[in-house]
Amino acid sequence: MKVRIFESSQEATHEAAALFIEQIQRKPDCVLGLATGSTPIKLYKELILAYKEGTISFKRVKTFNLDEYVGLDRLHTQSYYRFMCEQLFDHVDIDKRNCHVPNGQAKNIEREVMQYEAAIEAAGGIDMQLLGIGGNGHIGFNEPGCNLDCGTHLESLTRQTIQDNARLFFNGNEAQVPRQALTMGVGTILRARRCVLLAFGKSKQVAVQGMIEGPITKNNPASVLQRHPDTVVLLDTLAAEKLKKKG
Ligand code: GLP
Repeated sequence: MKVRIFESSQEATHEAAALFIEQIQRKPDCVLGLATGSTPIKLYKELILAYKEGTISFKRVKTFNLDEYVGLDRLHTQSYYRFMCEQLFDHVDIDKRNCHVPNGQAKNIEREVMQYEAAIEAAGGIDMQLLGIGGNGHIGFNEPGCNLDCGTHLESLTRQTIQDNARLFFNGNEAQVPRQALTMGVGTILRARRCVLLAFGKSKQVAVQGMIEGPITKNNPASVLQRHPDTVVLLDTLAAEKLKKKG
């Protein structure tokens, strides 16, 4: 795990954008794993800018998102599919048929998660996976206590995640936050050839310290990235504050 600490989240985001731009330039038909949440929004803005300037094209890029809420129509204002359209897909030349987000409304969840995993494999696996981290160490929606080997699956959200995400997506109305989500598993994430994790701000300090310096434990699912051969963690100084070793 390579850890880099930046003065500001803008600088860390800029570095992440450079990694994604380089990946797309090197392999124009690459497979990207994408994330939602507030953390990657500015990164997507940088990628849109790079596209508009003609530096990159998404024409042949395939994407797989980490997760989706169960029960939400994909055009629901809070769905992650819609988030991705608004933050990235609608602003670049990507073919929407190449944009994959788990179907949170699938009637047969078992089949949906198997097909999602199979589609990633059929695309040749993920070249570069973008990750954020939850305040409790979750990646995707792999919550503390999850199975550290599994593929895409149905996950029940913890109380902390429901509270955190209510603030972000449901105007603070916790009752509206779905209680379950479909998520790539930790196993799926570990199979990505490269992972780029972004974490900013005070609310991520404990999770970040555990991920980097703690034991590999299902209590902090992100800690399993210590086992991944090519993970880059990009932090701002605030998120890095609890690290014992800072360089
Ligand atoms: C959600 C997503 C995660 C994301 C996390 C952090 O729970 N499922 O993939 O990393 O939120 O969100 P934020 O970046 O807003 O802190």
